[in-house]
Amino acid sequence: MNSLSHHWGRTQKYNSYTKSDHETWRRLYHNAHMTLDGRAHEIFYQGLRAFGISSFEIPRFKEVNKKMQKYGWNVVGVKGFLPIEVFGDYISRRLFPVGVSIRQNNQEYVAEPDTFHDLFGHVPLLVNPDYRNFLEALGCRIIKWHSNKFTIDGIDAAEVYTRLLWRIIEVGVIGSKEDPKILGAAILSSPVETRWVFENAKVIPFTNRVLSDSYREDSVQPYYCRINCLQDMKSILCSIDNNDFLNNETKTG
Ligand SMILES: [Fe+2]
Repeated sequence: MNSLSHHWGRTQKYNSYTKSDHETWRRLYHNAHMTLDGRAHEIFYQGLRAFGISSFEIPRFKEVNKKMQKYGWNVVGVKGFLPIEVFGDYISRRLFPVGVSIRQNNQEYVAEPDTFHDLFGHVPLLVNPDYRNFLEALGCRIIKWHSNKFTIDGIDAAEVYTRLLWRIIEVGVIGSKEDPKILGAAILSSPVETRWVFENAKVIPFTNRVLSDSYREDSVQPYYCRINCLQDMKSILCSIDNNDFLNNETKTG
């Protein structure tokens, strides 16, 4: 096991989940799915089906991995909120870290990613090659930063990559202005945030300029960023590589 991530790995002890944990999964899944009401990007629904992630019970990581085999990725159990270099290490090796514990007490928001957020919000999107390639490529850049610290347009590169993950992978919106769909895992796994995005939120086209803004994780966002299509993710990464960062030229959406 790699030295960066070996402290964080955990085995999914499936028999440790209680009846109440499975009920929590079912309730969260049902609420999120109903609230999305078809407004997630199509790859999300494809991924739920392809990886066997259903409302029935908390999925077994082993079973998910059997179905992910042909896509070249695996899920791995973790505990805790991973530092950026640890998350980068996992995804650079095509391993998606999934929290082994599930939230208690009907919480809508959890600071530490849990099985529901990771498995329902993130993992289904790995069915798409553009999404997978983006994560792997971003992971490689994070590892490069970890071994040889560098900045991008004067900002610590880890901060830029963290903000990019946030703006696209956690709270991203995708598609046309007239028919936006949800891409970000934090929205997909939160009915409150899904409603907020569709009813009240300001959605702006993604530009690299937003990467100079910090953000808050513990509330809905003052604005969300929209990319046009999944292929945009690669061009955004290339534009950051080229230090084309605060320029307005890298506008998508
Ligand atoms: Fe997440």
